[in-house]
This record gives sequence, C-alpha cells and structure tokens, in this order.
Amino acid sequence: MKVLFVSVILVIVIAIKGQSEATAEWKEYKTKHSKNYNETVDGGKQEKMRKQVFLNKEAKIKKHNSGNSTYKLAHNKLSDRTEEELNQLLGTVLPPLTSKPRSLISKSGHRNDRKAIRIAASLDYRNHSCLAAVKNQRSCGSCWAFSAIAPLEFSKCLKTKRAVVLSEQQLVDCDTASTNMGCNGGWYAVAWKHLQQVGGSAKEALYPYTAKKNTCNFCSKCACKIGAKVSSFDYVEAENATEMQIALTKYGPLAVAITVVGSFYSYSSGVYDDPACDGKDVNHGVVVVGWGVLNSINYWVVRNTWGTNWGIGGYILMKRGVNKCSVETYPAYVVAAA
Ligand SMILES: *[C@@H]1O[C@H](CO)[C@@H](O)[C@H](O)[C@H]1NC(C)=O
Ligand SMILES: *[C@@H]1O[C@H](CO)[C@@H](O)[C@H](O)[C@H]1NC(C)=O
Ligand SMILES: *[C@@H]1O[C@H](CO)[C@@H](O)[C@H](O)[C@H]1NC(C)=O
Ligand SMILES: *[C@@H]1O[C@H](CO)[C@@H](O)[C@H](O)[C@H]1NC(C)=O
Repeated sequence: MKVLFVSVILVIVIAIKGQSEATAEWKEYKTKHSKNYNETVDGGKQEKMRKQVFLNKEAKIKKHNSGNSTYKLAHNKLSDRTEEELNQLLGTVLPPLTSKPRSLISKSGHRNDRKAIRIAASLDYRNHSCLAAVKNQRSCGSCWAFSAIAPLEFSKCLKTKRAVVLSEQQLVDCDTASTNMGCNGGWYAVAWKHLQQVGGSAKEALYPYTAKKNTCNFCSKCACKIGAKVSSFDYVEAENATEMQIALTKYGPLAVAITVVGSFYSYSSGVYDDPACDGKDVNHGVVVVGWGVLNSINYWVVRNTWGTNWGIGGYILMKRGVNKCSVETYPAYVVAAA
C-alpha cells in the first residue's frame, strides 16, 4: 500500500515537473523567436493552440535526435505553425499536360559536349558572387517564382560579371499561364517561358516582393527595368545525378521540385534523408547550388526560400544519387541572354 502510494506521488511529481519543463521551454521559445501571443486576448486560445503545436513538434524533434540519423532537427521560427500555415510556404504544381515534361528534354544540346566537363569532387556556389542572398517567400506559395529567378540571376551574372537581383513579384503578378497562380503555386519552367515571351525579368529593386498577388505592373518597353532576358532553358535528364553535376558545372544552379514532409521544416544540420518524402507528389520548388560528401554520404546543397534563419543559413543538404524527395526528377537550367 505504502509502495503504491509513493509511486502514485512520484508519477504525479514527474508529470508536474514534465509540464513545468514544457512550459519553460515554450516560454524560452517565444522569447527567442519573438512570438508575442497575448494571453489576455481571445481567452488565451491562440496561445494555447500554439503551445500545443510547439509541444508536438518538440516531441518529434527529441525522438528524431535521440535516434541514429544522418541529420538533426531543431526548433526554428516554424515550430509553432499549423499544417495549414506551413503549406503556404510551398507552392509547386506540375504543368497540367504531362506529369513529366519530357518534350522539353534536350535531344542534343548539352549532352553532346558533356565529355568536355570534368566533374569535381565537390562544388558549392553558396558563396559565389553571382548568387544573390537567400530570399524569403513568406506566406505565399510562390516558391516556383523563386526557383525560376535564382538560376536566372546567376546565369546573367556569369555573362556580365555583375551581380543582379531579379523580381519574383513580376512572375507572381503577371504570369497567368494555367499552371502559374501567384501565391497558389506554379512551375519554374513555365515561368521562364513567360519571361521569354514578355521580354525579360525586371530588377527586384524596381519590382519588389510583397508576398501577395497584385495587379501586373510590368512594362516590357521600359528597357531600363529589365535585369535579365531568358535565352534558353531545358530540363536535365531525370534521375541522373551525374547529368545534374554536369549541368551545375556548366550552367550554374538548377531549379528542382521536391516533396516537403514534416521533418523538413525543422531541419538543422547533416544530410537529410527522411524516407517519408520519397515517391510522393512534389510540392515545393527549390534550387540546387552544389554537391559534396559528408561522413561518406553524398549530398546536394539545396537553397530554400524561407529566409536565412531556416536550415543552415537558408540551405539544406539532401542525400544525392538516390532521388531523395524527388530532387532528381525535374532538374532544369536556364541560360540568360548576354
Ligand atoms: C494584451 O492585450 C491587452 C488588451 O488588448 C493589452 O492591454 C496588453 O497590453 C497586451 N499585452 C501585451 C504583452 O501585448
Ligand atoms: C547507427 O550508428 C552506428 C554507430 O555509429 C552505425 O554503425 C550504424 O550504421 C548506424 N545505423 C544506421 C541505421 O544509421
Ligand atoms: C562562405 O563564407 C563564409 C564566410 O567567409 C564561410 O564561413 C563559409 O564557410 C563559406 N561557405 C562555403 C560553403 O564556402
Ligand atoms: C547518367 O548520365 C551519365 C553521364 O551522361 C551517363 O554516363 C549514364 O549512363 C547515365 N545513367 C543512366 C542510368 O542513364
């Protein structure tokens, strides 16, 4: 009887201790990430809901990190966001006509002269002077525009030896091709086609990002506003990491589509290798900017558009050569006009 009594007390004490620890962690989190939920507004409903989302995430992160994985998770600014809110950070839809746009795959083009390309052991454009700073799409499903623009900025800069920052907002507002729907998703190759048709991509400074779809304000005759023109674009052979390395070496960063699942939001370091993302529909457009090897595991350096305070300064390392999260299914490159 006595033993039972002591055990019950112990369980209660542990439960209370667990709860107060959780509350302390939540408080610390709110401070660190400047979350100002007001406990007096709404009867504290919002605060309670956010805390629960955070604690669910906390449990997942702890469980993952205690295991034997090649990557680590950690809390970040997204830890208290609901699934619905997280979905707004994505935005890639496939073109409706073909599931795999094979018709655009080069029949000759770069494949003919690939023998001239030497594939290095690693390549990393993260600090290249032609790569603009990591951007933030915010709560707008415009990843498709961002994944179209970064490779174009890079290509233009390679030609002119001058860094250029281009406008995603132009695509969000003006590209009304059936697949491209402002903050509701789109497709990078269709965006390049649009830029080809309208005469170019405006400079970011002259057509800044608002994270909302507005009335189109692009004027193709205002030549001074154009920061780059699309000369050509194409897909790289699907599911062939070697072909991607050749294209990266030759053209610069590649637009890719990936499948984002829960763990991706909390990625913090190591080579990402979650089996949960394999074989599902792609839902996010990002950009591959290099490759390397970490602890004998091959990876791609992948640039996201959720700001620098996500992942490794805005980047994630994803396992290479295994089509992780479909990263090797739709790689594409763009070439800017000189
Ligand atoms: C919370 O809301 C109340 C009522 O609107 C306000 O008086 C108070 O200053 C707010 N507190 C914080 C920390 O924002
Ligand atoms: C787990 O860790 C051990 C020791 O570090 C390692 O030998 C093993 O391959 C790992 N297993 C998995 C599944 O990663
Ligand atoms: C980029 O430059 C920074 C600052 O010089 C350095 O700390 C970092 O290691 C570099 N990253 C890569 C991938 O070269
Ligand atoms: C991938 O591309 C490389 C280089 O072009 C080629 O040698 C290889 O045969 C390709 N692999 C497959 C499976 O098609």
